[in-house]
Amino acid sequence: MKVLVLGGGGREHALAWKLRQESGVAEVLCAPGNPGTATCARTVALDILDPAAVTALVAAEGVDLVIVGPEQPLAAGVSDALRAAGHPVFGPSQDAARLETSKAFSKAFMDRHGVPTARARICTTADEAEVAVRAFGAPVVVKADGLAAGKGVTVAATLDEALAAVDAAMRQGAFGAAGSTVVVEECLTGPEVSYFAVCDGTRALPLGTAQDHKRAYDGDAGPNTGGMGALAPSPLVDAGLSARVMRTIVEPVLAGMRAEGYPFAGILYCGLMLTPDGPKVIEFNVRFGDPEAQVVLPLLPVPLAPLALAAAKGALPAEPLPAVSGARVGVVLASGGYPGAMTTGYPIDGLAAAAAMPGVTVFHAGTKTGPDGTVLTSGGRVLTVVGEGVTLQEARDRAYAGVAQISFKDMEFRRDIAARYV
Ligand code: AMP
Ligand code: GLY
Repeated sequence: MKVLVLGGGGREHALAWKLRQESGVAEVLCAPGNPGTATCARTVALDILDPAAVTALVAAEGVDLVIVGPEQPLAAGVSDALRAAGHPVFGPSQDAARLETSKAFSKAFMDRHGVPTARARICTTADEAEVAVRAFGAPVVVKADGLAAGKGVTVAATLDEALAAVDAAMRQGAFGAAGSTVVVEECLTGPEVSYFAVCDGTRALPLGTAQDHKRAYDGDAGPNTGGMGALAPSPLVDAGLSARVMRTIVEPVLAGMRAEGYPFAGILYCGLMLTPDGPKVIEFNVRFGDPEAQVVLPLLPVPLAPLALAAAKGALPAEPLPAVSGARVGVVLASGGYPGAMTTGYPIDGLAAAAAMPGVTVFHAGTKTGPDGTVLTSGGRVLTVVGEGVTLQEARDRAYAGVAQISFKDMEFRRDIAARYV
């Protein structure tokens, strides 16, 4: 099988790394890729947001399966174009991707189908949003409707903060069209977990769990980021809770999407809060998380390519996947200043030494190859260093031992990834 991975971050390196190890996969292609994916896949030049260009490359190369890493190509209709041309694609349609790309759609959908989530008001004018904010009272959450690069959510401790968030999104246009509708919702409390289900349009199987660390600094302080580290599996999700999530969230979503005419095939990533009233949905994503993929994929007890192909063809196996054994902890190494302004282009030392350590895997994200072949930093999140272990403790120790080998100018990372659970 020839597989094309779309994307160029740590998640896509993990996807290519996993596929490369599978006997059923003859070749992995990756676009746009990065120096890490280049070690396990052939890099192809391609505008991954152009449905016609992706379809043409897939036909020309004889690709058997496309795996879409990030959400933007799904929002751009890439999976629809591939499906229309008869090419198997692992990733939902543009309509089904609205579970992630429109928080207003997602919220209204959950209400229609009784999926547990925070109570909310969908507001299309600033006046309406201000009324909703005052009605809920502080603390309250204000969310821009559309994709806002992880910056569209304000968890406001005070009314003033919430009203400022409404003003920024709806009067100042801080998120452009993505903020012309906002969702105002009740603030939930409890630990957050990421729950992944693989879906074929009709059925879903639990695929794994993880916990992200979204804030920039130790102790969950500082600004929100794309994710500074992750652990898997989540020690907070046992078999009983997993079954409850499938029954109360994943299965109603699959049935509802199908009934409304846009069946969901791909990865359903449920961002959950474990509240005193049970698990509730904070958000859906329609793809693997980053950095969650870097810890979930190495634990996947089956090959990914046949599973993804089966999901793409509406024919997931009947039996659940075998149980996960062991644990992974991933620590993100970021450029100084991330998620704010930063300088990149610095050489990275110690990559080979870290990768040579037992139980350590280094996934690339914001890296590029310099003129003399050295690897340079090129983005906010530069690397994810993943440790494997029988326990989270062992996985964590290995991840940080790997981190200790690597350095670049102004490197930043959290020292408390998974600390709470060891
Ligand atoms: P998102 O950008 O949708 O991932 O949201 C960012 C973060 O905001 C989440 O990871 C949660 O920590 C927090 N959040 C979102 N919605 C709520 C809510 N209703 N109650 C409390 N926290 C929330
Ligand atoms: N790590 C969170 C995400 O991928 O959305």
